[in-house]
Amino acid sequence: MKKKKIVILTGAGISAESGISTFRDSNGLWRNHRIEEVASPVAWHDNPLLVLDFYNIRRKQLFEVEPNAAHCALAELEKKYDVQIITQNVDDLHERAGSTKVMHLHGELKKARSTADENLVYELDSWELNWGDKCEKGSQLRPHIVWFGEAVPMIEEAARICMTAEIFMVIGTSMVVYPAAGLISYVNANSPKYYVDPMASRIGDISNLIIINGKAGTVIPRLVNDLLK
Ligand code: APR
Repeated sequence: MKKKKIVILTGAGISAESGISTFRDSNGLWRNHRIEEVASPVAWHDNPLLVLDFYNIRRKQLFEVEPNAAHCALAELEKKYDVQIITQNVDDLHERAGSTKVMHLHGELKKARSTADENLVYELDSWELNWGDKCEKGSQLRPHIVWFGEAVPMIEEAARICMTAEIFMVIGTSMVVYPAAGLISYVNANSPKYYVDPMASRIGDISNLIIINGKAGTVIPRLVNDLLK
């Protein structure tokens, strides 16, 4: 029998209980720089060492943390459902928890890519990416991240996937960063849409929205349990 399709949009909040701070904690500042000023093509042009340092610190942290109960529960969902995760996160905690279909809208921290050819993408096996690290064609490598001001290459495919959702979930995202935040409007009006976040509130005129104000690590295992019954 064909499995029912669940599409899940996740954000920084799902990884918070693993110990990864969300973007808009600390007033969105890092060493007194606004995050938007570090994660941008302009910053890369003006101060690449600062940008490399910012991602090296985050990558180092990623090697030290583990998936939490929410990531693990979502992997369990695959027993009964066709599950597609669309994450805004650049960590690999969904994959490490066992989820098999994960689309990274905003890139991946453990990858680097060539500044000369965007198709040359490399898996990093250590936390450091340095000035002078080059691709096979001899150009500097940059973090494989979609920066503020850059297009989100996978957004159209993500929108198409959202149209097929029979159940939709939004977990741990402030829903302020577009185009990702707009994906929910592609979901069929009749499909239930769970929004799990301690700060979740109504979203425009989205129908069948079920708001659950709580932490992902507590709420998601219960919700998954119900869905697997
Ligand atoms: N469980 C669930 N949600 C949580 C938890 C938790 N334990 N802790 C915090 N949250 C929620 C917050 O209430 C907030 O709504 O996680 C959300 C995090 O929001 P943001 O920091 O804005 O992160 P996100 O929505 O993922 O940001 C989107 O913006 O900075 C860019 O590209 C970056 O992918 C990122 C995008």
